[in-house]
Amino acid sequence: MLDLAIILPTLNECGNIASLVQRLDGALEGLRWEAIFVDDNSADGTADAIRKLASAEPRVRVIQRFGRRGLASAAIEGMCATTAPFVAVMDADHQHDPELLPAMLETVREGHADVAVASRFAEGANADGLEGEGRQRASGFANALSRRITGTELTDPMSGFFLLRADLARTLTPRLSGVGFKILLDILATAPAALRVQEIPLEFAERRAGESKLDRAVAFEFLVGIYDRLFGRIIPTRFALFGTVGALGVVVHMAVLAALFRLAGEGFAFSQAIAVLVAMSFNFWLNNWLTYRDQRLKGVGAVLRGWLGFCSACSIGALANVAVATLLEARGWHWVVAAMTGILLGSVWNYALSSRFVWGRFR
Ligand code: GDD
Ligand code: MN
Repeated sequence: MLDLAIILPTLNECGNIASLVQRLDGALEGLRWEAIFVDDNSADGTADAIRKLASAEPRVRVIQRFGRRGLASAAIEGMCATTAPFVAVMDADHQHDPELLPAMLETVREGHADVAVASRFAEGANADGLEGEGRQRASGFANALSRRITGTELTDPMSGFFLLRADLARTLTPRLSGVGFKILLDILATAPAALRVQEIPLEFAERRAGESKLDRAVAFEFLVGIYDRLFGRIIPTRFALFGTVGALGVVVHMAVLAALFRLAGEGFAFSQAIAVLVAMSFNFWLNNWLTYRDQRLKGVGAVLRGWLGFCSACSIGALANVAVATLLEARGWHWVVAAMTGILLGSVWNYALSSRFVWGRFR
């Protein structure tokens, strides 16, 4: 019978594993615990390092995921993979102090709270480990916003270090959005009745080995997460991103079309076709950078293959686009309206096909 499972999402944390397990062992003396690492197939061999350690330490396990990314979904999968009655989610880079775990467990076990949260901003806490002033300011803004969403007074709803009953976590799981990295926020916002939260001050330490994965994407992921929470069920988040990128693509398309058709005096069909090609390439680049940033294609070969794949996936949509637009323009429709109708027709097709074939799945 276990007391506690510690869920540790990892992405290239090879150099932190052994020392972290050692610290857990010291901090959790007298408790029956297991550590479940959820690794997104890190390139640095993190999963193998954990397995090696686990062969001599049965309290350590690893879930290795392929073709998946994301701190939140990793935490969810870990929480669903244990028989322990309590689960803690924690970073694997030493920024979270395992010495807090016994107190967090006591708080929840004794029923003083539903969730124990290690807060970087509670009285007595210290957020010096937050790199850069910009990051600290962004964190403050995010906190204010999320306080409104959860209705809970929290100093650190962005915390990645918290503990709750495993069955509570699993009850909420089907309704969690699992997008991005704001898992605690998601749990608090999803619970039908407001959860009672107890904060425990955390001295947010410097990360030991490796580097942060969240820095660049932080603000963006956060907004995407909020969107997903509010509207994700009505219009899927990826489609919304895809649509935004598409709208920008329309601007590019119309600019190229106007330049060729109106300024250079080329034929409409030719101008529309070139505009489609340029906009298509632009959209591929932006989608790869934004919509599918978690599965981004990298390296000349992969990008070239992806671009060709994207263009061929879009070719039927593009053909229909040019054919319909040309027909309508020939029938006397205004060139802008004709072009837009063609674009609309092509885009739904493009989304369905490219999300399946270029980036590998529907979502
Ligand atoms: N499996 C998996 N998949 N793990 C991930 C992923 C992912 O896509 N991205 C990050 N991780 C792991 C890292 O390996 C690390 O163990 C932990 O999640 C936190 O990632 P960091 O990259 O160290 O995040 P940070 O220190 O910049 O962000 C901190 O502050 C955030 C709020 O501002 C963390 O404490 C976050 O949990 C917190 O939400
Ligand atoms: Mn970190």
